[in-house]
Amino acid sequence: MLSVARLLTAVCLVGDVLAQTSTYFSPGVPTDTPIAGNYTGAYRPRVHFSPPTEFMNDPNGMFVNADGLYHLYYQYDPTATVAGNQHWGHATSKDLYTWENQKIALWTPNNYTFVFSGSAVVDVNNTSGFFPNQTNGVVAIYTLAQYPNNAPGPQTQNIATSHDGGYTFDAYASNPVIDSTSTQFRDPKVLWYEPGQHWVMVLAFAADFSIGIYTSPNLKDWTPQSNVTNVGLLGLQYECPNLVEIPWEDGPQETAWLLAISINPGAPLGGSITQYFAGDFNGTHFEPFDRAARIADFAKDNYAGQWFSGIPGTESQVSIAWASNWQYTQQVPTGPTEGWRSQMSLPRVNYLKNATRIGYVLVSEPYNISAVYTEELAYNSSLGNSSILLDYSSVESGALYFEANITSLSPTTAVGALNFTFSSSISGEYITGGTVVNGDTWLDRGHTNAFDNPFFTNKFSATGLYSGSDNGTWTISGVIDRSIFEVFVNGGEQSGTMTFYATQPLDTMRIGAAGIAANATVSVGVWALADTWAALADANGTVRGNATGSVSNGTYGRM
Ligand SMILES: *[C@@H]1O[C@H](CO)[C@@H](O)[C@H](O)[C@H]1NC(C)=O
Ligand SMILES: *[C@@H]1O[C@H](CO)[C@@H](O)[C@H](O)[C@H]1NC(C)=O
Ligand SMILES: *[C@@H]1O[C@H](CO)[C@@H](O)[C@H](O)[C@H]1NC(C)=O
Ligand SMILES: *[C@@H]1O[C@H](CO)[C@@H](O)[C@H](O)[C@H]1NC(C)=O
Ligand SMILES: *[C@@H]1O[C@H](CO)[C@@H](O)[C@H](O)[C@H]1NC(C)=O
Ligand SMILES: *[C@@H]1O[C@H](CO)[C@@H](O)[C@H](O)[C@H]1NC(C)=O
Ligand SMILES: *[C@@H]1O[C@H](CO)[C@@H](O)[C@H](O)[C@H]1NC(C)=O
Ligand SMILES: *[C@@H]1O[C@H](CO)[C@@H](O)[C@H](O)[C@H]1NC(C)=O
Ligand SMILES: *[C@@H]1O[C@H](CO)[C@@H](O)[C@H](O)[C@H]1NC(C)=O
Ligand SMILES: *[C@@H]1O[C@H](CO)[C@@H](O)[C@H](O)[C@H]1NC(C)=O
Ligand SMILES: *[C@@H]1O[C@H](CO)[C@@H](O)[C@H](O)[C@H]1NC(C)=O
Ligand SMILES: *[C@@H]1O[C@H](CO)[C@@H](O)[C@H](O)[C@H]1NC(C)=O
Repeated sequence: MLSVARLLTAVCLVGDVLAQTSTYFSPGVPTDTPIAGNYTGAYRPRVHFSPPTEFMNDPNGMFVNADGLYHLYYQYDPTATVAGNQHWGHATSKDLYTWENQKIALWTPNNYTFVFSGSAVVDVNNTSGFFPNQTNGVVAIYTLAQYPNNAPGPQTQNIATSHDGGYTFDAYASNPVIDSTSTQFRDPKVLWYEPGQHWVMVLAFAADFSIGIYTSPNLKDWTPQSNVTNVGLLGLQYECPNLVEIPWEDGPQETAWLLAISINPGAPLGGSITQYFAGDFNGTHFEPFDRAARIADFAKDNYAGQWFSGIPGTESQVSIAWASNWQYTQQVPTGPTEGWRSQMSLPRVNYLKNATRIGYVLVSEPYNISAVYTEELAYNSSLGNSSILLDYSSVESGALYFEANITSLSPTTAVGALNFTFSSSISGEYITGGTVVNGDTWLDRGHTNAFDNPFFTNKFSATGLYSGSDNGTWTISGVIDRSIFEVFVNGGEQSGTMTFYATQPLDTMRIGAAGIAANATVSVGVWALADTWAALADANGTVRGNATGSVSNGTYGRM
C-alpha cells in the first residue's frame, strides 16, 4: 500500500479533510454503520481493543464525556492490513475494557489526503461558537496529510465539529486552522488550560525534534508560543506529543505537567517508543524539572500513547497506547490468518511518584481491572518459596490477570525472585518472565513460534529500585490476553508491553518464588478475565457494534 518513503512519514499519522464537501469514500467501506468484525480468532485479545478488520495504529481523539462514557478514535486503514488510506475509526466504552464499535468518524476527503493523528475536546462553554445550544459539543483537531502524486505533501492542522457527542463530524469550513507546507508537522493534542482560560495545543515538528506549543481562545485561531526542542532521545522523528497535568505523589507540589513525546524510528530498543518529561507549565512554556529522558515502557510494544481529555489534573490520569512497533507491525501473523492487525494497550492509570534517587517516575497500572474479573482461579496468601501450577484451558477468554505481593521484606537485605511462565500444553511454546526483588524484571517471548522477524526481538528487562520508602514491599502484576502480555512492577514504577505469537493457544500458568527471606510473605492471586467481545457477538461470532446508530443525528454516515 504505502511506499517506504510514505511509511517513514506516516507513523503517527492520519490526515483528515473536507469530508463535509467530499463525495469520496473508499470503495467497499460502509459509511452508515460500523464495520463488522470477527473477534473469534486465536490471536484476538479479549480485554484489549482491536479493530473490527484491517489495520489500526495510534489512538486518537480520546475524551471522556460528562456521563463517564469514554470515546476512543484510532488511526484506521479500513481497506488493508497495513497502514495507508488513514481514517479515524471509533469505539466507546464505559469500563475501558468492553468496547462498542462505532462507524468511522473521520473520512478521507479525497483519494490522496489522509486523516492523521489528533485529539478531541468537549467545548463545554462554547468558546468556539459552534455550539450555542449545547454543552456536549465535540471538536476534533487533526492533521490532514496530502500525498499528491503519491509523494509526501503538506501536513496541515484542521478541526471538525460534532453536535451529537462525538459520533458524526462536520469539517470546519475555514480549514486548515494551522496551514503549513511542511511534510513533517503533525499530531495536535489539545487541552484546556484552566488558570489562563484558554486552549493549548502541542504538536510535532517531527523532523526538527521540536514540540510546538500553541494557544487559542476558540479552537479556530492559534498562536505559536514556544517550542520544546532537542530534549531527551531524538531517534529520527518526534511524534504524538501529549501535555497533561498529573498528580505527583509525595512530590513537592500536588500536581506537575507531563510532556510525553513518542519517537519513531530510532528507539533504543529499535523502532518505536515513548519518552516523558515532568515539569512546570505556565500556559505558554513548558520547563522540565531536569534534563533526563525517561522511557514509559520497557518492552517494544507501546507507542503513541494518548491521555484522555476531560479528567482534572488532581485526579489520576488515564492513558491508552498503541501496542505495537513500526519495525514489524505490518508483518505480524494476525493479518494473513485473521484479517486484522494491532491492538491498543490496556487502559492505564497514571500519576507521578517521587522516586528515590531518580527524582520522579511515571507510575502506570491497569485501570480498574477487577471490573472484568470473572473467576478467582488461585489465591495463596503465604506461598513462600513454592509455586502454583494452573491449567486454564477451560477459561474461554484465554485472558488472565495475576498479582503477587512480597511483603515484610527487610528494608536493606531484600533477596529472592518470582518467576512466571505461560505455556501451551499442545506445542510446549511459552512466554516467561520474572522479577528479582531488589532490581531487574525480565520478559522473554522467544519460545513462541508463529512469527519470526529480525526486529521482533525476544527479551526485555528493566531495573527497579527497592528502597526503604517501599515499606518492605515488592509487587508484580500482569495480564495475558491471547497474543499480548503486560506487566507492572513495584506498584507500577516499571511497566512492559509485549505482543507474542504462538502456533497454539497458551493454557498453562506457573508462578513461583525462590530465595525469598523466610520472614517475608509472598501472596499471589490469579483471576480469569471476561471475554468482552464474545458478549457482543451474534450467533456467528460477528460483532456488529452500534449498528442502529441510535445515538446519532445530523450528518449520519458522513464526516
Ligand atoms: C471467524 O474467524 C475464525 C478464525 O479466524 C474463523 O475460523 C471463522 O470461520 C470466522 N467466522 C466467520 C463467520 O467468518
Ligand atoms: C484518485 O482519483 C483520481 C480521480 O478520480 C484518479 O485519476 C486517480 O487514479 C485516483 N488515484 C488513486 C491512487 O486511486
Ligand atoms: C468553562 O467555564 C467555567 C466558568 O467560567 C470555567 O471555570 C471553566 O474553566 C471553563 N471550561 C472550559 C473547558 O471551557
Ligand atoms: C439554537 O437554538 C435557537 C433557538 O431555538 C435556534 O434558533 C438556533 O438555530 C439554534 N442553533 C443551532 C446551531 O442549532
Ligand atoms: C518552532 O520550531 C519550528 C520548527 O523548527 C519553527 O518553524 C517555529 O518558528 C518555532 N516556533 C517558535 C514559537 O519558536
Ligand atoms: C523525594 O523524597 C525524598 C525522600 O525519599 C526526599 O528526600 C526528596 O526531597 C523528595 N523530592 C522531592 C522533589 O520532593
Ligand atoms: C511563562 O514562562 C515564560 C518563560 O519563562 C515567560 O516568558 C512568560 O512570561 C511566562 N508566562 C506567564 C503567564 O507567566
Ligand atoms: C528477616 O530476616 C533477616 C535475616 O534472614 C533479617 O536480616 C531481617 O531483619 C528480618 N526482617 C524482618 C522484617 O524481621
Ligand atoms: C507500611 O506498611 C504497614 C504495615 O502493612 C502499614 O500499616 C503502613 O501504612 C505502610 N506505610 C506506608 C507508607 O504505606
Ligand atoms: C527465575 O528465573 C531466573 C532467570 O532464568 C533464574 O535465575 C531463577 O532461578 C528463577 N527463579 C525461579 C524461582 O524460578
Ligand atoms: C496486593 O496488595 C494490594 C495493596 O495492598 C492489595 O489490594 C491486594 O489485594 C494484594 N494482592 C494479593 C494477591 O495479596
Ligand atoms: C449466520 O450465518 C448463516 C450462514 O451464513 C446465516 O444464514 C445466518 O443468518 C447468520 N446469523 C446471523 C445472526 O447473522
